Amino acid sequence: MTTVVKHFLRDDDLTPEQQAEVLELAARLKKAPFAERPLEGPRGVGVIFEKNSTRTRFSFEMGIAQLGGHAIVVDGRSTQLGREETLQDTGRVLSRYVDAVVWRTFGQKRLEAMASGADVPIVNALSDEFHPCQVLADLQTLAERKGSLKGLKLTYLGDGANNMAHSLMLGGVTAGVDVTIAGPEGFAPLPWVVEAARARAADTGATITLTEDPQAAVVGADALVTDTWTSMGQENDGLDRVGPFRPFQINEALLAKAAADAVVLHCLPAHRGEEITDAVLDGPQSVVWDEAENRLHAQKALLVWLLAQRTGDRP
Ligand code: CP
Ligand code: NVA
Repeated sequence: MTTVVKHFLRDDDLTPEQQAEVLELAARLKKAPFAERPLEGPRGVGVIFEKNSTRTRFSFEMGIAQLGGHAIVVDGRSTQLGREETLQDTGRVLSRYVDAVVWRTFGQKRLEAMASGADVPIVNALSDEFHPCQVLADLQTLAERKGSLKGLKLTYLGDGANNMAHSLMLGGVTAGVDVTIAGPEGFAPLPWVVEAARARAADTGATITLTEDPQAAVVGADALVTDTWTSMGQENDGLDRVGPFRPFQINEALLAKAAADAVVLHCLPAHRGEEITDAVLDGPQSVVWDEAENRLHAQKALLVWLLAQRTGDRP
């Protein structure tokens, strides 16, 4: 019998129930970091980067070690990836060496191509379209601060067409969070992602709001989130990625319009004085350092969960 391999290429690859299982496991692993050892042996995980990284690299390498495994961390440019070998063949070959592949790359189609050849889970460690591991950590952080996720109001401000906006929308509504995306004209989420998020929201009862009005977007929000205005790979895209974004900066005046106990998230790296001010990032409502830490716990939980899907040995 052929085993169906479960990949994590985008946030809605997990059902609401599955996402809740991963988040519960993440909370448990935060308290007991060595409780799960599915990679004992050691078994290997390939961790490949085609873009820069600090948090993703450190959290995956450390997390894999804590699960008893060995991380093979490589710069994609030093491999044969997409050079002389198809991505599908690469997925087929890597599956003979490692138990999972974690990959930071450009277009989502590259991840889909590798997954089509792989017999082991492929995990999206950031693509142009999605950053689903980050959003698991964001949801874990929100749950720690707010208890239940269902019915929370989250407002993202900035580039609505980037990976974080897309993943917050898709992963957020999966958790039952009402998501508002506020960005300047021309920077709204891609229609096919909105469609997927609306389909998921119909299952969970969550809402999605798209707006170009940052002031109205934050009123009553439980969480404000932002991200760089220029994502990796967009440095020379010819668009003005500063001027139109200024009204979307998270500063103390904007934060004051959110709920009194609102928290502020940022996946980091932050561009202080651009999308967020020092006063907010370093202020009492900022949870960005816990959020960064939770990358470790959430990704460990994800790996444990994905590996258990393969063996049928549910954690
Ligand atoms: N937030 C995030 O993914 O950070 P890195 O780019 O440093 O991995
Ligand atoms: N949107 C950003 C996220 C960095 C973690 C980027 O893709 O560069």
